[in-house]
Formats: sequence, structure tokens, C-alpha cells
Amino acid sequence: MTTLVIGGTGTTGSRVAALVGSSARVATRKPALAGQTRFDWREPETYGPALADVDRIYLVPPIGVADPVPIVEPFLAEARDHGVRRVVLLSSSAITEDTPQLGELQRLVRVGFPEWTVLRPSWFMQNFSGEHAVARSIRSTGEIVTATGSGRVAFVDADDIAAVAVRALLDPLPHNTDHVITGPQALSYADAASIISEVTGKPVRHRPVTTGEFAALLTATGLPSEFADVLAALDEQIRHGAEDRVTTTVDEVTGRPARTFAEFAAAHRDSWR
Ligand SMILES: NC(=O)c1ccc[n+]([C@@H]2O[C@H](COP(=O)([O-])OP(=O)(O)OC[C@H]3O[C@@H](n4cnc5c(N)ncnc54)[C@H](OP(=O)(O)O)[C@@H]3O)[C@@H](O)[C@H]2O)c1
Repeated sequence: MTTLVIGGTGTTGSRVAALVGSSARVATRKPALAGQTRFDWREPETYGPALADVDRIYLVPPIGVADPVPIVEPFLAEARDHGVRRVVLLSSSAITEDTPQLGELQRLVRVGFPEWTVLRPSWFMQNFSGEHAVARSIRSTGEIVTATGSGRVAFVDADDIAAVAVRALLDPLPHNTDHVITGPQALSYADAASIISEVTGKPVRHRPVTTGEFAALLTATGLPSEFADVLAALDEQIRHGAEDRVTTTVDEVTGRPARTFAEFAAAHRDSWR
């Protein structure tokens, strides 16, 4: 049994690969370690070798692409030809099958494979840590800038997403469903800022901006404007309450509770030094 982990060096994929263990084949543009294979969404000739003897896939779609369907659909056809039976797609709580373009990936996985799961996580807690834009902004200005207003999000830890993913990949019975995965509390960005302030002892604040201002800020960092508009529109949906919900998926699928934002912040206090 071989699991191809696409995005296997990334936020969720690296955690999935670690949990799957030696039967994971990590897809990366720059393989350097045992167990890694060269894979680039922009180079279809890398698909076949990566898929050899694979029977299940953790699929992180191409990053930063507003319409990934023309890239992912031929890959899925090739995966089927190689005998892949099970696909676990990383999607988002903000995306359903009815969402133009990104939602189509969910449908392709559902109708194309006998065994499938669509993971629909909320916003990652890890966006606040490491080299992510929010973390850099906290370190440099003490601010988190969003267009979410006082809207709330049930931020979820990437370890919890990976734990659900691994059950979906390895459970003898396929899940054949979508899982909306959240953390245990819905928080505004101001709430998150105040938890980080408490943990670091440094003032951190949320600065709300309009959707248009936020899109312009993202574009200024080098994001393609089409994709910046998609991300800014997601913030607007949060402002209107779209992510103000908590699910029990982590508990139900993994048998343990989802990590709280306060626990995450305490474990990552060095991120904000
Ligand atoms: N961040 C959130 O709050 C959030 C919430 C819900 C859903 N999501 C979903 O999570 C995904 C992104 O997560 P993330 O931002 O944490 O990114 P990430 O998973 O850390 O993405 C980076 C990964 O993508 C791989 N990659 C980049 N370009 C590639 C290419 N051309 N071909 C093959 N692999 C490539 C990288 O591999 P190499 O560099 O090793 O090649 C690396 O493993 C998106 O699909 C997003 O919709 C995110």
C-alpha cells in the first residue's frame, strides 16, 4: 500500500506524511530525501512516475491558482489509469461543490473514485506562526490586518487536520463524505490577537480594513490579483458570519478533542518574538 502525499512538504502534507509513515511517498518539486518523489503540477510528465504503484492519494491542489480544474482533472484521470482507488482532497470549509472552479474539484473526486473524502478545514492556526504573512505582520508591526471585521472563525490546528486526513486515508472503510473540520471555538481576529498578546506579553491588535483595501494589500505582496480577490472575498464572507461555526469532526474521527487557540499560542510563543 503506497500513499502519494501531494504537498507532502507543506503545512498539512508534511504532517500527513509523518503519520502515514514509511508507506508515504512525498511529492515535492525538489526531492532530496528518501521517500520523496519529484512532482510538479506544471509538469505533467512528473505525474506518471509519482503515481507508480500508488493506491491512495492525499491531494493538496495547486496553490494560488484561482481555477485549478484544468490542471487537476488530467492528473486524476492518470491516477485512475494507474489503479488509484482512494483520494483524500484538501479543500476548505469555505468551498462547497457549488463554488465555481474550486468546488468542481470536490465533485471530480466524489464521482471519479470509489473511495473518497473531501476535507473542508476552517482557517489554519498555523497561519499565525512561522513565516506566514500574519506572523510576519505580528512580529514587525504588532498588527493583524484583515477584512473580516468582527466576524469569527473556528481556527483549526494543522495537526488535527492531518489526524483526520490519516483516518480518511487508512481506515479500512472509506469515509465517502466531506468533513468540515474546525477548532473548538469560533474567535474573531481581535480575540486571537488578545490571546497572542497574553501569551507573549506584547501588544497585538487587529486592524480591520475593507475588502478592497485588503485585496490591494495582498496584491502588493506579489499575489496575482485574481487570487488576491478570491482571498479578500473569503474575508468578506467571514465578516458576514460564514465561518462562525464549530464542528465535532476532530473528536468524532480521531477520538480526541481539537486543540484550542490558547494551547496553540502557548506552544508557538517563539513565533512572535
Ligand atoms: N491556510 C488556511 O487557513 C487554509 C484553510 C483551509 C484550506 N486551506 C487549503 O490549504 C492549501 C494550502 O495550504 P498552505 O498554504 O498551508 O500551503 P502548503 O500545503 O504549505 O503548500 C506548499 C506545498 O505545496 C507544494 N507545491 C507548491 N507548488 C507546487 C507545484 N507547482 N507542484 C507541486 N507541489 C507544489 C510544496 O511542495 P514543494 O515546495 O516541496 O515542491 C509544498 O508541499 C490550499 O489548498 C488551501 O485552500 C488553507
